Amino acid sequence: MLLNLVKNGIEAMQDVATNQRALDISARLLTARRVEVAIADHGYGVPPDLKERLFDAFFTTKKEGMGMGLNICRTIIEFHEGQLWVEDNAGGGSIFRFTLPVAET
Ligand SMILES: Nc1ncnc2c1ncn2[C@@H]1O[C@H](COP(=O)(O)OP(=O)(O)O)[C@@H](O)[C@H]1O
Ligand SMILES: [Mg+2]
Repeated sequence: MLLNLVKNGIEAMQDVATNQRALDISARLLTARRVEVAIADHGYGVPPDLKERLFDAFFTTKKEGMGMGLNICRTIIEFHEGQLWVEDNAGGGSIFRFTLPVAET
């Protein structure tokens, strides 16, 4: 799941200068019971009209893409009562964020 988002981030930065090719992965607690994970890249970003379509089954802009990665990720996250969405990265590129409930111990 996470690997899928990481792989997309890396693929989005293929044409970016090496010294700018950074993928930031962070996690924070939103509340005591909810965690948010963010995968931020400095790639080509997502145009506004595609922000929701990216999650459609078989939507891809890649020559050899399957277009199932984000669709499956969202299905998994929602199955576990979380959300997955994409935002613009202020520094260029995009940020994929997901939330999940924290397991009770
Ligand atoms: N980090 C990203 N930056 C920009 N566009 C992205 C990113 N991740 C996904 N996308 C867009 O969403 C589409 C769907 O992604 P995905 O479902 O993983 O399928 P695939 O990687 O096989 O194309 C990609 O083809 C690409 O256009
Ligand atoms: Mg993919």
